[in-house]
Amino acid sequence: PTKSKELARQMKGRLSPRVLQILSSAGKIGDELDLQVYAVGGFVRDLLLGTENLDIDITVEGDGILFAETFASRFGCRCKGHIKFGTAVIVFPDGFKIDVASTRLEYYETPAALPVVERSSLKMDLYRRDFTINTLAIQLNQSDFGLLIDYFGAQRDLQEQNIRVLHNLSFVEDPTRVFRAIRFEQRLGFHIARHTENLIKNAVKMDFLHKLGGKRLLSELVIIFKERDPFGAVERMANLGLLRFIHPVLKLDAMNRRLLEEVKPVISWFELLFLDRKYEKWVVYFLALCEILTHDEFIEVCKRLAVSEHYREKLAEMRRLGERVLDAFNRRGAKCRPLQPSEIYRLFNDLAVEVLLYLMARTKSEEAKKALSLYFTKLQGVHTILTGDDILALGVARGPMVGELLEQLLAARLNGAVMSRDDELNFIRQAIVNNVVFSQQDTGPCSES
Ligand code: CTP
Repeated sequence: PTKSKELARQMKGRLSPRVLQILSSAGKIGDELDLQVYAVGGFVRDLLLGTENLDIDITVEGDGILFAETFASRFGCRCKGHIKFGTAVIVFPDGFKIDVASTRLEYYETPAALPVVERSSLKMDLYRRDFTINTLAIQLNQSDFGLLIDYFGAQRDLQEQNIRVLHNLSFVEDPTRVFRAIRFEQRLGFHIARHTENLIKNAVKMDFLHKLGGKRLLSELVIIFKERDPFGAVERMANLGLLRFIHPVLKLDAMNRRLLEEVKPVISWFELLFLDRKYEKWVVYFLALCEILTHDEFIEVCKRLAVSEHYREKLAEMRRLGERVLDAFNRRGAKCRPLQPSEIYRLFNDLAVEVLLYLMARTKSEEAKKALSLYFTKLQGVHTILTGDDILALGVARGPMVGELLEQLLAARLNGAVMSRDDELNFIRQAIVNNVVFSQQDTGPCSES
């Protein structure tokens, strides 16, 4: 192994005091239990690259669960062990987690199956990993704290920016690594080494990726779509012929390529506007990638990816509805009167935010873009002040009319016709007097979904 004490100094400069403290405590506990303890994998890779990574993976030569339990009891953490795999998770009171593994030899009895696990040395453990850049370890025991262990030329590949497998069967053992290779290449701005790329092409030719279960395939796609800029990875997937493993007719053409590029500014706009809003960014990219598919093909993709039936049906339905709304916008001529806010609200309110963002990226109609933007900034989440009980209190009989009145009231609020509670009360009283509850005075937009 290549060893360097220089790293201990770099660690002090680059890691937070808390992380440093955790690592040095792990080393001390290793000493007490007479176990060799290492930080390994992506954490070390990113440390050397100078990128923050708070996923600390610790590998213990020997009984990792004993180590994890001791660490947890010493620092008031919880510990969840997985005896069969020799792994454990240490959970701090504030939720911060550390993964602990025992050095292990993983092997796969059949391609794409879950690994069988046996104990082995650190070197064998690291040899079983996906790419050289993920095989670095840092010793944590006190006497050698900060010693960098590099068995497989990881430092050189980090310098030369290579994604390289350790052996020829890597993608056969675990086809998800094909997607991981692309993800690391795009995220780090590295390149997949030539031999590694040939192995990918070979795995594609031999159809190994068909053996990949839907769940595992989906989770790789989700991680790719959560990256800062997924477009490059999708393009790489297309060039390497991977899209057909998602669906036989799925490809990247001028249409969905444009759309995928369009998604990024839409998402930036949305995230800037709603800083803390929870949403699934990956769904927007997923919908964009699938733009060229029919409704039935989209359902097939969801089935291939083991998307739950409930979510699949919901998403497919919203996708269909959203496309109809865009068609309706496209059919509107210049002579059509502008849509009222309440009409815009009604068009979009049944659609999830992910679908709306997809539509925003997709539409070429300026009017649709403006309507979506208005919906996001002004209309969504608008409520009437009065409730059904208030309307009953005004003497309206229990029944569908209450809901109808509330809907009209909401429309009035969306259109700026009522502002205060008094306005709302007056509006309802007037509606009762005029008995206009069911009469739709408005002729509606020119074309409707
Ligand atoms: N690993 C692997 N084969 C896989 C998945 C993971 O060999 N199919 C190894 C990798 O070497 C990786 C380690 O397991 O370093 C931990 O996996 P994960 O947390 O997914 O990877 P990170 O490298 O931490 O990636 P990220 O930065 O995206 O979290």
